[in-house]
Amino acid sequence: MARPSRRRLVSGNWKMYHDHVQAIRTVQDLGLRLAGLDLGAVDVSVHPPFTDLRSVQTVIEDRGVPVALGAQHCHNQDEGAFTGEVSPPMLARLGVRYVIVGHSERRTLFGQTDEEVAAILRAVVRHGMTPIVCVGETETERDQGVTHARLESQTKAALGGLPAQQVAGLVVAYEPIWAIGTGRTAEPGDAQVACGHIRQVVAGLADDEAAQSLRIQYGGSVRPDNTAELMTQPDVDGLLVGGASLEAASFAAIVREAGANPR
Ligand code: PGA
Repeated sequence: MARPSRRRLVSGNWKMYHDHVQAIRTVQDLGLRLAGLDLGAVDVSVHPPFTDLRSVQTVIEDRGVPVALGAQHCHNQDEGAFTGEVSPPMLARLGVRYVIVGHSERRTLFGQTDEEVAAILRAVVRHGMTPIVCVGETETERDQGVTHARLESQTKAALGGLPAQQVAGLVVAYEPIWAIGTGRTAEPGDAQVACGHIRQVVAGLADDEAAQSLRIQYGGSVRPDNTAELMTQPDVDGLLVGGASLEAASFAAIVREAGANPR
């Protein structure tokens, strides 16, 4: 089969770090560091907290910073009496391009269900943005040998029933929960097997063409020094980076490595 021509996507998930002043500084710094890089083969997104989005959008536009604006979450309704929530059209209006959906922290700490993940994903697509749908096994599931079953059920619950041409444009992030924020990264070979399995599941849900176009990121303790090896895996199309995306220097180093290592 021909080599896949999927563009890489490196995304920085800032979680609940950086107020808008710190965010402005970080994105300005990132702009300077990315300016000299060849980003011909890699897309980059940053996902700040909601209160930073407007400020970060302004810096990106004013300075021509080569990153897309991302969000970490949203509600599935366009508007309504949902105290504390933010809607997809509000994000789209701000120029948000990517929205993380179903991050394991939202699933475990805020009780987000597979059904909610599916509804948010569809709302994000409806408003012209790209969801980054997170799936991943716990350490116990890994020890029990049910990783593939877990990935399959989460992927099916999120993507099942979507038309193939919509599936083709999505991003899935494989994030083993035991690797998030722990300093323990999946072995690149294991990340490949998991991402390959997700692609197979997607082919069964949609079709081969959609599965070959859909991008799959790896996430969980990604750092500049483990990026290159992860990126040589054929089914790893990018990275979802938490802690190491908070500093412009380390995030830019990851982006550089991701763009520099062909598979
Ligand atoms: P980490 O987080 O890189 O800090 O492990 C990844 C994520 O939660 O998306």
